[in-house]
Amino acid sequence: MTENCISILGSTGSIGVNTLKVTEKLKGQFKIKYISGYNNYKLLIEQAEKFKPEFIVTSDDHYTKIRDILKRASVKVIAGSEGLKQSCQDAEVGTVVNAIVGSFGLKPTVYALEKGKKVCLANKESLVMAGSYIKKLSKKTGASIIPIDSEHSAMLQALNGEERSSLEKIILTASGGPFRKKSGSLENVSIEEALNHPKWSMGKKISIDSATLMNKGFELIEAVHLFDISPAKIEVVIHPESIVHSLMQFIDGSVIAQLGLPDMMLPIQYALTYPKRSKLKLPRLDLSELGKLTFHKPDRKKFPALDLACRAAEEKGTLPVVLNTVNEIMVYKFLAGRIKFTDIVNNVGKEMDAHTNIKNPTIENICELSDELWKKFK
Ligand SMILES: NC(=O)c1ccc[n+]([C@@H]2O[C@H](COP(=O)([O-])OP(=O)(O)OC[C@H]3O[C@@H](n4cnc5c(N)ncnc54)[C@H](OP(=O)(O)O)[C@@H]3O)[C@@H](O)[C@H]2O)c1
Repeated sequence: MTENCISILGSTGSIGVNTLKVTEKLKGQFKIKYISGYNNYKLLIEQAEKFKPEFIVTSDDHYTKIRDILKRASVKVIAGSEGLKQSCQDAEVGTVVNAIVGSFGLKPTVYALEKGKKVCLANKESLVMAGSYIKKLSKKTGASIIPIDSEHSAMLQALNGEERSSLEKIILTASGGPFRKKSGSLENVSIEEALNHPKWSMGKKISIDSATLMNKGFELIEAVHLFDISPAKIEVVIHPESIVHSLMQFIDGSVIAQLGLPDMMLPIQYALTYPKRSKLKLPRLDLSELGKLTFHKPDRKKFPALDLACRAAEEKGTLPVVLNTVNEIMVYKFLAGRIKFTDIVNNVGKEMDAHTNIKNPTIENICELSDELWKKFK
């Protein structure tokens, strides 16, 4: 197993495309053995032709089509859950980048951790749904989880060289999303308005999660698991400029932050090369040109997702599974024009209220509950 031999899951998405760009900039430092996509088979084929992985993993639906198109190429085509498992557990692969969106990213995270791999994790839903299980599993197998989310990358960088026991509090920053300044009800906002994130260009699901601030709630739960801290010791602060990516406060009152222009290439590269740094040619931060950085408290009435996520983080068990899965289902319903924007979080809250929490769930409990919720809301 070599750390430089990698599988990039979700290579056709926003994080996946940026991960491929980073490996290109790091010229020859990484051997890409697997890439995976789901519906965007045309881009997957283009990526296979350009980056020449040994394997591509596709959905069962596109398998025959892709295999026929690539029959003269040297790349091998595999599919579905078994294909993803192979890409995560291949003996030569040392690093798995999980950039699959949503709850379907959980199993690949588990597959990779079972075999002691380094997992560069963009799929935050894995930690939201099964954080306690995942942390225990990685301890048992010696696997490591390096976050790709810019906020958690900032936290990791701010913790460098510090005793973990010196950490007093995490200050998690949030851009505030497209509706930060919008007054009145958000009930009738359009899909286009909700997708129009002011600072980051991302996939559709995380863009909607950023608009409801559920994304920030997910990041709070991620931080709880990654840095072993109680939810009460994490403060969410709105920082519209998205320059300070998060801050760590220590027991002597010192606060250490990581700053940078908003570009996912940086946290992706840091995760890949961690704990080392490599050169990265991107525009540099010019503080005097920026002039000022602003911070304020989130409006928790307007964005109830934050309190729901805090409740799930406190109560643990299967409640975060309900939070994550019902949210995901509702986001796709909103994107399909079937529900209003405010119904997303309202429905999550209703389902959480009706849920009987199972403490210390097994991974089977978690997957079964998620499957049941998908069936219930089909
Ligand atoms: N984008 C960001 O800046 C950002 C920042 C921090 C964290 N994240 C996290 O990173 C993850 C990916 O986000 P993204 O913005 O890159 O999403 P995205 O652009 O929508 O890409 C998602 C990727 O997952 C694949 N996929 C979708 N459904 C799948 C399934 N059922 N099985 C296997 N693969 C599937 C997609 O394939 P096809 O496109 O081929 O269908 C695509 O490659 C999310 O968990 C997100 O929260 C993203």
